[in-house]
Amino acid sequence: MAFTALFVSLALLGNIANGASTARRATCPDGKNSAKNVECCALFPVLEDIQTNMFGDSGCADAAHAALRVAFHDSIGFSTTDANKGTGADGSIFIFGETELHYEANLGIADAFNLEAPFIARNNISVADFIQFAATISLTKCPGVAQPPFLFGRVDATAPAPEGTVPEPFQSAADILARMADAGLSPADTVALLASHSIAGADDIDPDASGVPFDSTPSLFDTQFFLEILLNGTIPGPNQGQASSPIRGELRLQSDFVIAHDDATACIWQGLVNNQQAMAQAFQQSFLKMGILGQDATKLVDCSDVIPAPPALTPIQAQAFFPPQLNINDVQQSCQSATFPNLPTAPGAVVSVPSIVQDPLTDGLCQDDGTDCVFPSA
Ligand code: HEM
Repeated sequence: MAFTALFVSLALLGNIANGASTARRATCPDGKNSAKNVECCALFPVLEDIQTNMFGDSGCADAAHAALRVAFHDSIGFSTTDANKGTGADGSIFIFGETELHYEANLGIADAFNLEAPFIARNNISVADFIQFAATISLTKCPGVAQPPFLFGRVDATAPAPEGTVPEPFQSAADILARMADAGLSPADTVALLASHSIAGADDIDPDASGVPFDSTPSLFDTQFFLEILLNGTIPGPNQGQASSPIRGELRLQSDFVIAHDDATACIWQGLVNNQQAMAQAFQQSFLKMGILGQDATKLVDCSDVIPAPPALTPIQAQAFFPPQLNINDVQQSCQSATFPNLPTAPGAVVSVPSIVQDPLTDGLCQDDGTDCVFPSA
């Protein structure tokens, strides 16, 4: 299955690169939309609902971040070696939320549930598809993302994923990479997927703060995250799963730190610093792979042409920079086989990174630890 899924996803990306998505389109029954595959017409009302009522004009902000994270936590409930570890991108995180949302690693996924549950209830696609579709649309809010493809037709879960499939921020690099590999994702996929932390922050790691960003530009899908993780940590991070960070207001996950410095991944990590195109393309490919884990990719329909184009970064935004007052001497370099890129330092005095404003739609009955939630059925 993993080989089939990989083959299909690479072939799909090839099609997109070759412009196959501009092939002749069928007019949808609504008379106003068209799609290459007529099955994709079912997605247009969902797209309109999400665009208007879920993300609105909030951009690459809290709601988009929440929708992206839950797509990972749903997909990773899968193993290429153990059929008892879940059926992957199958909606189980919500369908069996009364079980999965209580897992420690899923703390805070309740935000995504509060956000998405009303949309899942009123739109007629599988929960599994909804989670991946909303995540794909969330990416299109973030400047710097490469056009995300979308495959449609996932089958919903019939059982929860067990505890232990979602990596934890306090685990070693070896343990995280082993879990990802067991699900079918290589060390290079893991680094690429962590580009998601360039548009992310923590609500629960530090019990006294929410929306604490992982880099200084949490609304941009840029390589700044890959640089900032490599800067010496000078501000203590006392909570479990937290490492010292280099800039006030920024939270560094210990898991990001150990993967940035592990022998297996340090040079892949450094290779993405100030390499926007490489980062965006690697993420595009690995995200596609992640979003179909456990599904029979040969039965999915390519609906990539339904997905709007993400905004581009300006040339200034695409340039990685040392935060004010920092420079190459502040880099903790673990990749010995490549020279560190030559980067400018942002002008001005040291500043604190502002927190990410919390979206009221992520607030609701469902509590961070999964209590009081009302779950959908498959
Ligand atoms: C591989 C190991 C990973 C670990 C250990 C990890 C861990 C975490 C943790 C602890 C948080 C903060 C939770 C909180 O306190 O609110 C977080 C946030 C986030 N993660 Fe990851 N993550 C990993 C991979 C991924 C992947 C592969 C994706 C997506 C493809 C992802 C997307 C996100 C996003 C978007 C957020 C921010 C959510 C928000 O602001 O609401 N993460 N992650």
